[in-house]
Amino acid sequence: MEVKREDMENENEFGSITRREMLAGSAIAVAALAITKVTGSEAAPVAPTVTPVESAGLTFNVNGKAVNLEMDTRTTLLDALREHLHLTGTKKGCDHGQCGACTVLVNGRRINSCLSLALQHQDDSITTIEGIGTPESLHPMQSAFIKHDGYQCGYCTPGQICSAVAVLEEIKAGVPSHVSADLKAPMVFSNAEFRERMSGNICRCGAYSNIAEAAAEVAGVKG
Ligand code: FES
Ligand code: FES
Repeated sequence: MEVKREDMENENEFGSITRREMLAGSAIAVAALAITKVTGSEAAPVAPTVTPVESAGLTFNVNGKAVNLEMDTRTTLLDALREHLHLTGTKKGCDHGQCGACTVLVNGRRINSCLSLALQHQDDSITTIEGIGTPESLHPMQSAFIKHDGYQCGYCTPGQICSAVAVLEEIKAGVPSHVSADLKAPMVFSNAEFRERMSGNICRCGAYSNIAEAAAEVAGVKG
């Protein structure tokens, strides 16, 4: 049998299948696939599985009042306060624990409420800026912020005030900071102590000096 030159040139390394034969085989495979699609015999696409949202009940105390909430288990304390209880004094800045705008007190200690799930606070006592003082009855720290111009736009201010109130309590309780020289000596308020302890509360307006002066007045010392 005469072997065509073209077939000889296209013969692959296995020596048995020519390019022409391979192309013919591929065409048959593509045609078979097309027929499968047209006839609908291909398996139907599987819909992605959606995990149902779980909800749970929470009982805690907010600004002196007992509160019961039913919520998505993924809700942060910040969103529970703002979206469920409409306590919008607590601000959402970064939602990542970097700015301190969401600071509230939990059992007297300050935390970033954006980093905490609400359901972790069963039976806890939460204090937000609305519970620190009211326009009719300001907390001394709120009055001092006004007197010393401790804010400009005011967005960070609720967090700054909650944090400053807790800082004075931490110093009174003898909790040391990174700038405390003697861990065994009683802690005393100083500008350096205050600024170090407030380093998690960012103010884009740069009202830091005025905030420190306000806190120094409340602490009863010169800043
Ligand atoms: Fe929570 Fe920024 S919003 S730390
Ligand atoms: Fe504007 Fe602090 S007063 S961010």
